[in-house]
Amino acid sequence: MNILVIHGPNLNLLGTREPGVYGTITLEEIDEMIRVRARELGVEAKVVNYSSEGDIIDEIHSSAGWAAGIVINPAAYTHYSIAIRDALAAVALPAVEVHLSNIFAREEYRRVSITGGAATGVIAGLGPAGYLYALDYLANVLSGADPE
Ligand code: DQA
Repeated sequence: MNILVIHGPNLNLLGTREPGVYGTITLEEIDEMIRVRARELGVEAKVVNYSSEGDIIDEIHSSAGWAAGIVINPAAYTHYSIAIRDALAAVALPAVEVHLSNIFAREEYRRVSITGGAATGVIAGLGPAGYLYALDYLANVLSGADPE
């Protein structure tokens, strides 16, 4: 079972970026956690990080046929990218949107997720563990262990 994990813009700066909001863990450390959990779950995880919206959209398109599910943190695009939402809806794969911070408890403009409407579900505010819970969910649902 293949799962695509997409990190959006500025997440490559984790570790030094607004540590009061995002903590001090780096993206490399998060990716290692993802790879370890994927191995435990027996799934193949492809993990990518893009700054540009077009690259994220292209990656979602090319995941069709390969990936059984998607984990995505669209970062700031969450709040305004109809194009990423449409790409997720178009490939129609089970998808979990993850946010390290609780976007619903932050600035007004972060409280809306445009992209989340095309995801199966959204995890926000649980830090890096959110990615692992998203992998757990997809692995369980896709293997038929959990109800959809
Ligand atoms: C974020 C929340 C977004 O509002 C922000 O633009 C990010 C990170 C999160 O993971 O908490 O870049 O997606």
